[in-house]
Amino acid sequence: MDPLPIRSLEFLGGLAAPGGWRPDPSLPEIAFAGRSNVGKSSLLNRLVRHKTLARVSKSPGRTREINFFRINDQFILVDLPGYGYARVSKEAKALWRPLIDGYFNTSPQLRGVVQLLDVRHDPTDDDLGMLGRLADIGVPTLIVVTKIDKLSPTRAAARVDALATMLSVDQDAIVPVSSETGEGRDELAEALVALLDQPAWRNLEPTT
Ligand code: GTP
Ligand code: MG
Repeated sequence: MDPLPIRSLEFLGGLAAPGGWRPDPSLPEIAFAGRSNVGKSSLLNRLVRHKTLARVSKSPGRTREINFFRINDQFILVDLPGYGYARVSKEAKALWRPLIDGYFNTSPQLRGVVQLLDVRHDPTDDDLGMLGRLADIGVPTLIVVTKIDKLSPTRAAARVDALATMLSVDQDAIVPVSSETGEGRDELAEALVALLDQPAWRNLEPTT
């Protein structure tokens, strides 16, 4: 049985600058974070069984805004802009941090963050920095390893093992996925449904 049947999808809009428009924070939210090109937008599309809801690109740095998608009139998926892409302009890089901080500060209904890592690469300093910040603010974080179709099943399993060791987390705490084949979609959906059932991770007073 599908742990997350999709009945309706709606693109709500994008947050482009700190303090700008964002959807009413009344529904629970789950955000997707990770390096540029790691596959956030692709995974979001695979999760909701829609090919083109979130924009996917071969050139990294595609998603510059924080994009909000309402699913089943029930919760909101948030596609965060990726980090760590060298060729993004200095101005764009300088904007990234306040944009993300601004998002976290205005998201009292956030239930969790899905942190994506490419199965072929060790976590970068940027990845570790992001994971550190998520731990600091105390938001539940789910680690998802992407693009497992790029390796043989044996190699992929060994890499998931290695990544778990590097991050000092249990191997069972990591969800391996492929947006190409759909492998891991239902496992991810199940984990997100469980996160959505949790109370909001903190009651935030919006900071101005
Ligand atoms: P930014 O928006 O730049 O932060 O990137 P993103 O993390 O949203 O990545 P995106 O989903 O746009 O995917 C980047 C590239 O990786 C695209 O060419 C995708 O087709 C490809 N890709 C994403 N997921 C997978 C996967 O599971 N398997 C394979 N083989 N390719 C993938
Ligand atoms: Mg993207």
